[in-house]
Amino acid sequence: MKIAVLYGGTSGEREVSLSTGKGIIEALEKNGHEVTGIDFHPERLDEILKLEVDLVFIGLHGRFGEDGRIQGLLDMIGLPYVGSGVLASALAMDKSRAKQIFKQAGIPIAQSNAYAVDQYETLNEMEVDIKENFTLPFVIKPNQEGSTLGLTIVREWSQVADALKNAADSDDVILVEDYISGKEVTVPVIGLKGKEQALPIIEIIPKGDHYDFASKYEPGGSEHIVPARVSDRLTEEIQQFAVHAHQALGCDVYSRVDFILTEEDVPVILEVNTLPGMTPTSLFPDSASKIGWSYDEMIERFVELTMT
Ligand code: DAL
Ligand code: MG
Repeated sequence: MKIAVLYGGTSGEREVSLSTGKGIIEALEKNGHEVTGIDFHPERLDEILKLEVDLVFIGLHGRFGEDGRIQGLLDMIGLPYVGSGVLASALAMDKSRAKQIFKQAGIPIAQSNAYAVDQYETLNEMEVDIKENFTLPFVIKPNQEGSTLGLTIVREWSQVADALKNAADSDDVILVEDYISGKEVTVPVIGLKGKEQALPIIEIIPKGDHYDFASKYEPGGSEHIVPARVSDRLTEEIQQFAVHAHQALGCDVYSRVDFILTEEDVPVILEVNTLPGMTPTSLFPDSASKIGWSYDEMIERFVELTMT
């Protein structure tokens, strides 16, 4: 099959996507496909409009790649692509709106407020509002970002000003969320709509204080335990929540759903990643390998599901 792989892009997760793209391209080539790799840039849209391929594999992360916009473009020019469509992608990228949907679906969420930067004269004013609504510790993050970029766990009030500036650098909506302490777990979901299955749960043990950018992508930055050390009953519950979250947003073919498992064994959902990382240290391929799928086989499954 002729397949174009879009990778790189212009979001804060460009470096991650370069690695994801490389993995996907190598796998597709090994699987016998004729692959065109495109380091995606809005100025090179022409190249995409002229593509003559059977399928597009989107290896982008973050804004303009994971948020439904490129999916919309591909819909308009009639090129099939792997993964979620416009609406699911846009919703999953908007953490605040996604959380409202998770709540309606009965999936536990952390309390949060979204603050639009343009509603305030200064970030100081925003800080005053936050102080009225949150108690320490809490999390400040851009509403639409990935790989924990721009995220601060605020443990002291003196951190708020820098944390807001940091988040405002990547987004004009800032999400402030209760900090939930517990185990980080994540669940790959794969399948056609209505027939999704959850893969083994991954428990993440970051080397540092939390699962930040460095612990996500530096070799040895975190340890993954698959399957996660939780009871069978809890495994089933978390996997069901993951599939429900994927379905509630209307995702397609694959996603990875992140949770914090509290000390009271409540799986609190953080987000759904519609284009999860496929780098050498990434979580989805690690879980797939535990049920015997090599990286290349996993990628081929995504292609097959899309073409079904
Ligand atoms: N946003 C990164 C790529 C992930 O979730 O894997
Ligand atoms: Mg993420």
